Amino acid sequence: MAGAAQQPLPVVVLISGHGSNLEAIIEATRCGELPVDIRAVISNRPDAPGLTISRRAGIETVVIDHTCHADRAGFDATLQTSIDAFEPGLVILAGFMRILTPGFVNHYRGQLINIHPSLLPEFPGLNTHQRVIDAGREVTGATVHFVTAETDGGPAFLQARVAVRRDDSAETLAARVLRQEHRLYPQAIHQLAAGRVALATGDQVTLDGVPLETVPVLDTGA
Ligand code: GRF
Repeated sequence: MAGAAQQPLPVVVLISGHGSNLEAIIEATRCGELPVDIRAVISNRPDAPGLTISRRAGIETVVIDHTCHADRAGFDATLQTSIDAFEPGLVILAGFMRILTPGFVNHYRGQLINIHPSLLPEFPGLNTHQRVIDAGREVTGATVHFVTAETDGGPAFLQARVAVRRDDSAETLAARVLRQEHRLYPQAIHQLAAGRVALATGDQVTLDGVPLETVPVLDTGA
């Protein structure tokens, strides 16, 4: 008997800005490459350009303006209630520029992922590309990781590398890394949707049930 078609994984995507990673996820889904059901896009900024991408795609779009909340805990509580109403199996941070409280992060343990534009654990935080250039690095990249209470510090499970050119500015480097992010993030989400990647006890990532010793790197040719 043929097996039943796999149910798409319900997801919610959180954004703050341009939403180009969101767009890549929507495209991969639309083209049948990514078995996810994007139940909602939530932005903490009412003017985020990514909101247009989401609305145009017909996805339910929610704004929760962080400036209208007295503190981080209050914002996170509202955000959590909104997310949970969509019953996602995965929450995807795609350029979501807010530090999340440990309570929020723990609520979604193993179901909350982020993409960061460096080869973590190197260069966490902001202003990544300029710091990579200033440090004289010849290779940088992007990392998809589970989110834990430590900002950009959760266990990684897929990376892409990008060569740094001698004449790169932070802007040119950011643009090339971003292009690779658009390939990397859908593939990483695919691994989760297919049940191949999981977060086990002790913050150990497993791939196909086997503990991941080194973070796999996509061959992007970049
Ligand atoms: C990306 O570089 C991502 O790695 C970082 O924020 C940026 C978001 O870009 N977390 P976009 O909004 O997806 O275009």
